Amino acid sequence: MLEVIDLKKYFPVEGGIIDRIIGRVKGYVKAVDGISFTVDRGETLGLIGESGCGKTTTGKVVLRLLEPTSGKIIFDGIDITRLKGEELRKLRRRMQMIFQDPFANLDPRMPVGDQIAEPLIEHGLMEEEEAKEFAYKMLGRVGLTPVEDFYERLPLNLSGGQRQRVVIARAMSLKPDFVVADEAVSMIDVSMRASIVKLLLEFKKELNQAMIFITHDISIGRLVADRIAVMYLGKIVEIGRTEDVINNPAHPYTQALLAAVPTIEEKKIKTKIEIKGEVADPKNIPPGCRFHTRCPLATEICMKEEPKMIEVEKDHFVACHHHI
Ligand SMILES: Nc1ncnc2c1ncn2[C@@H]1O[C@H](COP(=O)(O)OP(=O)(O)OP(=O)(O)O)[C@@H](O)[C@H]1O
Ligand SMILES: [Mg+2]
Repeated sequence: MLEVIDLKKYFPVEGGIIDRIIGRVKGYVKAVDGISFTVDRGETLGLIGESGCGKTTTGKVVLRLLEPTSGKIIFDGIDITRLKGEELRKLRRRMQMIFQDPFANLDPRMPVGDQIAEPLIEHGLMEEEEAKEFAYKMLGRVGLTPVEDFYERLPLNLSGGQRQRVVIARAMSLKPDFVVADEAVSMIDVSMRASIVKLLLEFKKELNQAMIFITHDISIGRLVADRIAVMYLGKIVEIGRTEDVINNPAHPYTQALLAAVPTIEEKKIKTKIEIKGEVADPKNIPPGCRFHTRCPLATEICMKEEPKMIEVEKDHFVACHHHI
């Protein structure tokens, strides 16, 4: 369904006024710095990593909500990397993003029922009457019942969990083929998370969608994803089937992320790796392996040579000179 090849997204760093006048760019934030992966129909890829590693940027670029700097994005056999105008607009329905903050998806002044109906009308899928009926059914489907109590409410008059249900109903009504869920449950009360994740996965299954599930929390990622990609400073450092990555993590960074989760059994963590310090500055990416400044296994080669992706077992890849 989706193939991403050597994708990059660099944001120019704003300099001072002189730089702006003479059009000089101070440097770049290399938010996404050459990543490749695929997501099949019916598959969930978990995209995991610390804050600032480029997860949201990846999601937005593959959906063409942000212009890629370079690389290729193939969606359902179509090269959408530079698609524009009407052609891009037509694809929008088939690719939806669910953001962490439901307010980012919703209009604060419109009744939530109408917010589900509106995109159906806009994309020419239904007439107004039919769309409203459909929205009514969708509200019930996502558990906002009795529907007559919810249809006319404004987003502000719902709880965070209820708002995220509206967002899911709105996105899934369009029957997209590909969904990016970006920290979709992070802002929701812990007690509600499981039921909302379940709802998302039900739709995914029913519509046979490809999904990217973005989370900084590897313990959620392992529950929902068929495959996991671990990102560090704009790069994928490890990717493979969820059980392989969890049971047999090959990158010290993945090991460290797992070691930080108390519920994952000790025996699965071969080496007790603790990473030092903070994520390096993405404006100033360390040479060689970009993780070397925090890696307890780092040696000289790590400071000089960027590690290539190698296959450690079937469909399980890692980029590390000292993979475990
Ligand atoms: N529009 C922008 N202009 C400049 N820099 C940006 C922009 N958007 C993101 N960045 C930078 O790109 C890097 C990656 O950001 P991104 O939001 O993709 O990370 P993330 O992995 O989603 O983090 P989080 O877990 O905090 O959501 C960060 O250093 C961020 O500051
Ligand atoms: Mg993000």
